[in-house]
Amino acid sequence: MTQKLNSPKETDSNKANLAEESGYQEEPAELEAEVSGLSDPETMLDLSPNSEEAAEFETMLKFGQNPRLSQIILDNNLTIRYTSPAATALFTGYYRIQSKPFFNVFRQPLGTAELRILIMSLKSPERGFSWSGTLVHKNPNMRTLLTRTVINPFFAGSHAILGYLVHFEDVTDKYNTRLRTTFSSILEAAKLKDNDTGKHNERVSHYSKQITEYLYKKQLYPQIDPDFIDNIEFLSMMHDVGKIGTPDYILQKPGKLTELEWEIMREHTINGTFILSSYPNPMAKEIALSHHEWWNGGGYPFKLEGDMIPLSARIVTVADVYDALRMKRTYKREFTHEEAIERIFAASGTQFDPSIVRVLTDTHESFDEIWNRFTDSNATEPFNTDITIDYE
Ligand SMILES: [Fe+2]
Ligand SMILES: [Fe+2]
Repeated sequence: MTQKLNSPKETDSNKANLAEESGYQEEPAELEAEVSGLSDPETMLDLSPNSEEAAEFETMLKFGQNPRLSQIILDNNLTIRYTSPAATALFTGYYRIQSKPFFNVFRQPLGTAELRILIMSLKSPERGFSWSGTLVHKNPNMRTLLTRTVINPFFAGSHAILGYLVHFEDVTDKYNTRLRTTFSSILEAAKLKDNDTGKHNERVSHYSKQITEYLYKKQLYPQIDPDFIDNIEFLSMMHDVGKIGTPDYILQKPGKLTELEWEIMREHTINGTFILSSYPNPMAKEIALSHHEWWNGGGYPFKLEGDMIPLSARIVTVADVYDALRMKRTYKREFTHEEAIERIFAASGTQFDPSIVRVLTDTHESFDEIWNRFTDSNATEPFNTDITIDYE
């Protein structure tokens, strides 16, 4: 009477397939049993050809489809039976999802804890045999994709579950925009205090992205992926957000700072780390804390050296100093592009990571373009700096 379709846990080849596709880790035995329990042969519908339920299933497949929405349809054994073109497009680069058991494809973004909740929900009349949650899809070559995911059952005439409609909404941009809007407001507040900015933060973001994209293309650092590039583009703008806690008389002092004032100025790195402590990506704190560290250990606040300094901060420091060199200040003239690049090359291996400075050999002209494209109109002449470099 019953027919078992391709169960997610049926074969070793399925397991191998799953491991290869989604980084599957062996789950505890009881979880394995619960996944299998969803396709209990005792409760399975008869989907053999010409059965009444098979006809109902085909009707469901036919009328449940909406090619414009990102959706898949599962049979009651949780095997994918239909993938809309929008869903195929959404997951291109992440998964190939046609005709596979649902958990083979989506177990990794679910994680063990959420998988338990999902299984419980799909078995629960109180929860309407349905589930909703946010899945995080990760591929080293792609930006992380976030989907708001809803699974709802289809019922047969006999009130048994025929299958499920799974709908995915891409909420990646919505999530990032909401998160970043909050922190951009803090940045705006910091800029009110610090005359040093103008479009400085924006330019630092562009230089940092330029360097990082080059390193990604050359595959020089495995940790650089599209997420890293996207994050450094935004978070490099926040490098000096801690200056919101630096007294005005220090930020606006026309002359050189005393040693005590320097000590207070250096605290903007620690303050920035506190301000960004709730940001979900650790890169935010790394840049704020370490963008004044020197490759040779001569920087601040902790005199970290070499690889101890996070890569993101080693990139931002080159961008930050290039821009500071080009800016006119009360105590220094505006450096030309060639002079600024020369200074940076001269400080390779002392102030800067040589592997980052080498990137400028091929890309330095784009720095000049960025400087010219994002000029400060009516910029106030900035007073003091947080950068320890010899400007003479
Ligand atoms: Fe700084
Ligand atoms: Fe800066």
